[in-house]
Amino acid sequence: MAYNVNRNSLENHWMPFTDNRGFKANPRLISQASGVYMDNHMGSKVIDGSSGLFCCPAGHCHPKIIEAVHEQMKINTYTSPFGTSHQESFKLADRVSELTPEGLNHVFFVNSGSEAVDTALKITMAYHSAIGENRHRFVSRERAYHGVNMGGVSLSGMVNNRKTFPIVMPGVVMMRHTWTGEELCVKGQPKNGRELANDLHRFVQTYGGQTIAACIVEPVAGSTGTLVPPIGYLERLREICDDNGILLIFDEVITGFGRMGTNFASDKFNVKPDIMTMAKALTNGSMPMGAVCVRDEIYEAVTDNANENAIEFFHGYTYSGHPAACAAGLASLKIYEEEGLFEKANDLSPYFLDCIFSLSDHKLVKDVRGIGLMAGVEMHMDENPGKCGGKLQKDLFWNGLHVKFTGDSGIVAPMFISEKKHIDEIVDKFRNTLDKY
Ligand SMILES: Cc1ncc(COP(=O)(O)O)c(C=O)c1O
Repeated sequence: MAYNVNRNSLENHWMPFTDNRGFKANPRLISQASGVYMDNHMGSKVIDGSSGLFCCPAGHCHPKIIEAVHEQMKINTYTSPFGTSHQESFKLADRVSELTPEGLNHVFFVNSGSEAVDTALKITMAYHSAIGENRHRFVSRERAYHGVNMGGVSLSGMVNNRKTFPIVMPGVVMMRHTWTGEELCVKGQPKNGRELANDLHRFVQTYGGQTIAACIVEPVAGSTGTLVPPIGYLERLREICDDNGILLIFDEVITGFGRMGTNFASDKFNVKPDIMTMAKALTNGSMPMGAVCVRDEIYEAVTDNANENAIEFFHGYTYSGHPAACAAGLASLKIYEEEGLFEKANDLSPYFLDCIFSLSDHKLVKDVRGIGLMAGVEMHMDENPGKCGGKLQKDLFWNGLHVKFTGDSGIVAPMFISEKKHIDEIVDKFRNTLDKY
C-alpha cells in the first residue's frame, strides 16, 4: 500500500538513532507489514532481514498476538503495578521462568531493554546491600551495548553512544572486546576466550574482587555487529565471578527467546548467569516490554532484608507489567512453543550461516561473523567509519531489504518463520546491492 508523504508533516518528529536531516529529505516509511515482508510508502515490498530490530521472530502482525491484545484491552487497559496487579502479569512471570535456566525464577517487568539493564544494576546494588557487602564497581566491555538509559550508557563500550554524555555512573571498568581480527570470516566461536576473559581477573587483582558488584556482558555482542564469544570466554567469566562473589549479568535483550536456537544464549553456551535481562522478542516486538530475571537467592535476600509490610525494592515503572504487554507476551511465548519456532531457528541456522558466509568472497566485505540466526557482515570501505554503513542501509532498503547497520557492520537476523527462499532473497539482495558499489 502506497501513501502520500507530506514532507512538512515529518518535521515535528525527532527520530531516535537516525540522521533526521537525511531521513526527512528522503523518508523511508513502512505503511504495513505481514510475516517477513513490509510495504514501504512507495508501495514496494521490503523483506525484513533484521526482524525489525531483532525483535519479531514470529513475523509482523501475527494474528494471534493481535487478537490476544485486543481481547485484553476490552477487559483491562491499565492496572497500577505498585501494590496491585492483574493475573496476566503473574501468568507471564510463570511462563518466562519456565524458559529461563533453573534457579532463575523471579521476574521483574519493565518496558524496554534499557530499563531492564538499569533495573539489573539496581537489583545488583540492592542485593549486595541486603547481604551487607560494599561493592560499588561494575565491569563492562568495550563495544558493549546495554541500551541508552544512564546505567546503560555508563556501561556502554560503543564510543558514539557515550561521547556526548560525559556525566555517567562512576566505577565502571571495561574489559577488552573479543574481536581480535585474527580470525576473519569464521563461523561460530573464535578461539582463545579464556585469555580475554582474564581481563576480569586483572580487575580483581587491581581493585580487589570484594569491590566488584557485577560483570555484565551480552553473551553474543549484538549491536556492535555480532561478536560471537570466543571458546571458553563465558565459562571463564563465570569461574572468576564465582571465586569472588561477583554477580554475572547476561544481557539477553537480543539473544533471548530463540535467537541462538535455544531459549537463551545461556543455554546455548551452557553458562548460567545470576541475572538476565530480556526484551524485544518477549512480545515479538508487538508491545514495549522488557524483563529482568534473577536467581532465587537474589530475590530472597532483597525481600527478606526489609521489614514486614514495607516495600522491599524501591524501583518500578508506571507501565511495569502493562496488561496489553502481558497479553502480547503470553501470546508470543505460546506461538513460539506451538509453532516450534526456537527449533525452527536452530534447524535453519546452518543454511543461514552458509548463505551469509558466502558473502565473504565479495571485495567489499571485510569480515563475516555469525551464530544461530544472527550474523554481522562488516564492510571494507575507505571512508569515515559508519558513513558507508549508513548509505548501504539506505541502498539496501530501496533494493527491497531491511538490514540494521551499526557503523559499517550490517546485522542480519532473520525471523524464525523464514524459509530457505527468504534467506536466499536476503543474501541475494545484499550481494546485488554491493555489486552496484
Ligand atoms: C543487549 C542490549 N541491551 C539493551 C538494549 C536496549 O533495548 P531497548 O532499545 O529496548 O531499550 C539493546 C537494544 O538493542 C540490546 O541489544
